[in-house]
Amino acid sequence: MFDQVTRTNEQNIAVIEINNPPVNALGYAVRKGILDCLKVAEADDAVTAIVIIGSGRTFPAGADITEFGTVMKEPHLPEVIDHIESCSKPVVAALHGTALGGGFEIALGSHYRIADANARVGLPEVHLGLLPGAGGTQRLPRLCGAAFALDVMLKGTPISAKAAKDAGLIDRITKGDLRRAAITFANEVRTVRKTCDETSQLKDHAAYRADLAAAHKMITTRMKGQIAPLKIIACVEAILEKPFHEGRQLERQCFMDCMASDQSKGMIHAFFAERSSAKVPEASRAEPRILETLGVVGGGTMGAGITVAALNGGLPVTMIERDTESIARGRGNVEKVYDRLVAKGRMTTNEKNTLMTLYTGSTNYNDLSNVDMVIEAVFERLDVKRAVFEKLDKVIKPGAVLASNTSYLNIDSISSATKRPDQVIGLHFFSPANIMKLLEIVVPEQAADDVVATGFSLAKRLRKVPVRAGNATGFIGNRILGKYGVCAAHMMEDGATPYEIDNALLDFGYPMGIHAMYDLAGLDIGWDNRKAAAPTRDPDTRYVTIADRICENGWFGQKTGRGFYIYKDGARRGSHDPEVLSIIADIRSKKGITPKSFSATEIMERYLAAMVNEGCEVLREGVALKPSDIDVTFVYGYGFPRYRGGPMKYADMYGVQKMLTNIQKYEKEDPVFWKPSQLLVDMVAQGKEFEDLNKG
Ligand code: CAA
Ligand code: NAI
Repeated sequence: MFDQVTRTNEQNIAVIEINNPPVNALGYAVRKGILDCLKVAEADDAVTAIVIIGSGRTFPAGADITEFGTVMKEPHLPEVIDHIESCSKPVVAALHGTALGGGFEIALGSHYRIADANARVGLPEVHLGLLPGAGGTQRLPRLCGAAFALDVMLKGTPISAKAAKDAGLIDRITKGDLRRAAITFANEVRTVRKTCDETSQLKDHAAYRADLAAAHKMITTRMKGQIAPLKIIACVEAILEKPFHEGRQLERQCFMDCMASDQSKGMIHAFFAERSSAKVPEASRAEPRILETLGVVGGGTMGAGITVAALNGGLPVTMIERDTESIARGRGNVEKVYDRLVAKGRMTTNEKNTLMTLYTGSTNYNDLSNVDMVIEAVFERLDVKRAVFEKLDKVIKPGAVLASNTSYLNIDSISSATKRPDQVIGLHFFSPANIMKLLEIVVPEQAADDVVATGFSLAKRLRKVPVRAGNATGFIGNRILGKYGVCAAHMMEDGATPYEIDNALLDFGYPMGIHAMYDLAGLDIGWDNRKAAAPTRDPDTRYVTIADRICENGWFGQKTGRGFYIYKDGARRGSHDPEVLSIIADIRSKKGITPKSFSATEIMERYLAAMVNEGCEVLREGVALKPSDIDVTFVYGYGFPRYRGGPMKYADMYGVQKMLTNIQKYEKEDPVFWKPSQLLVDMVAQGKEFEDLNKG
């Protein structure tokens, strides 16, 4: 018998309790323990019914993901659940916390389900590139119909106990002592209830098929390229055509196919990468400071987005702007976000008003004297930022944390305007800041550990995914973006159109191409940066003027109706612009370049090679602590498809040796741009891959 599962008889009810912190994951010891306890309880004449419950914070939150990719020991979860379902005594699953994946499948295989009112249940396997592999695809639709089941499995988002009860997935909701309530329930039930008939009892096949078709349509747009959603639909469809046991066989086969795919390897990597990015040395050495109030300086695009993120996280915000007109606009920017949600029916006016009570607008810096942290989001100009920090230094209390949302500027050159540079960090949010998950936490050398730890605690409060970045130009993300952006410009000048490049990126799984992204962000930003960098640019580097020529026409992207694409009548999706192609052709002919054609494969190979090579430089310089932090940065901040794990994980799967060979081939064309990173060269020489560096 294993310690992770215990059985106690409470008079005539056997209580099987799972105790495998932190989330009671269903590893080997738990599976074996449940099965053994079940057999003993079934054979015990004194027992009339059985309760399965989790101890600690949750009912099992799923299979033990760390076991995936290893040879898993028997009993496997489907077998355990089949034993539960075929048990001769009623089995009651008592759910609390997050009953997810295999955990919820145990509940679905049980004869009755009781849940704590705050419990959440769901089948999130799709986020790991998988499908529910222990009967979930066959049991769930039989219990609640195709539409609801498909929604649960394709979105993968946990639902509340109430929503689950309304859908027929939970029999009873309780508040307070769940164990006691479950024992009472188990005493009331007398019969073993089969959840799954051998043949489906579904009556309305036409409606069921319509739900399948709708789900299919949804995934072809929103989950394009992903394998697991297609297989989920195939398994749900099988319910119409196959008996339960055959449906289970199909589900198992689909699960194994998904498990063997690079997509699930990428997504499982992303799951752990996301959790490990928050584990930084500073946060292990120091406790975060108290963080109950926030100041935001600047109420433009970013200041307003950061404010919304903070208000949503329950943090009161004092926003400072330059003058009365600007603060009115700042408040308006915040309200606009909520008004859109109200218009879409995703928020009530009351909810908006409640959140806005946490907001104070002001033009007086003294109003920040009591806040615990200030985030500056004013214009990207060093003189302006320094002036703001000088003022902040005079008014904020000792112990308050100061942060800048700068995109590129050196934090030291900002913090030196204060007498407390050790209290200053960078907090680089992404636009729109209330939506984008990534938060780069920029750590200058002088920053105190507890100041850095407070940055990470803010990220948690705002439900952001934090990544620690060193204080170097562009930090992790924008630095690497700069490099592959130039690579795209080279390809454009050499013969690819911006539209071919964007299409290759869309096919790879990006939600939008790089040129569409530039148009969205505004081409003037990059243009300003290039003009500022011109005096110090190395004359040996290849410089492509296409974007400059587009900007010279006053075409700054979506906001001017024209950039790399044309946006007719305010359209959000651009169409191809023949005049842009003429500009490119003109530049090529002036440089004497004969355009060559690029396949989508070559476009992606070059693009990713530039990304990974610069990623290696970022690692070599210590700007990122580990490759998986770069993966998290690109998945959560730059639209890199999560199912590919991130650029460094992708490189491992593609083959680091092959990627280095590509770079060495490109180096022959342009030795300045394509210098292979020494880190990559050494790694290949030692037979290592990025995963080894993650472990190291
Ligand atoms: N297996 C192994 N470890 C897990 C785990 C799992 N299923 N779920 C969470 N953990 C680990 C995390 O890695 C983390 O470990 P560290 O502290 O070492 O970083 C720890 O448990 C706590 O997790 P979180 O930090 O995520 O805690 P949280 O409170 O923010 O969230 C949670 C809890 C909602 C359960 C979240 O962890 C989660 O979503 N887990 C994954 C759930 C899931 O995907 N289940 C399906 C698994 S696949 C499956 O079950 C297939 C099948 O059909 C058989
Ligand atoms: P913005 O121009 O929309 O807003 C800047 C705001 O700062 C304006 O409302 C202005 O009135 C205010 N401001 C200027 N000087 C001030 C002062 N002395 N005191 C108080 N308020 C002052 O700019 P945006 O886009 O919000 O950018 C802000 C910062 O965030 C910049 O450093 C930028 O590089 C960075 N950033 C921008 C991103 C984006 O996508 N826009 C993404 C990530 C970071």
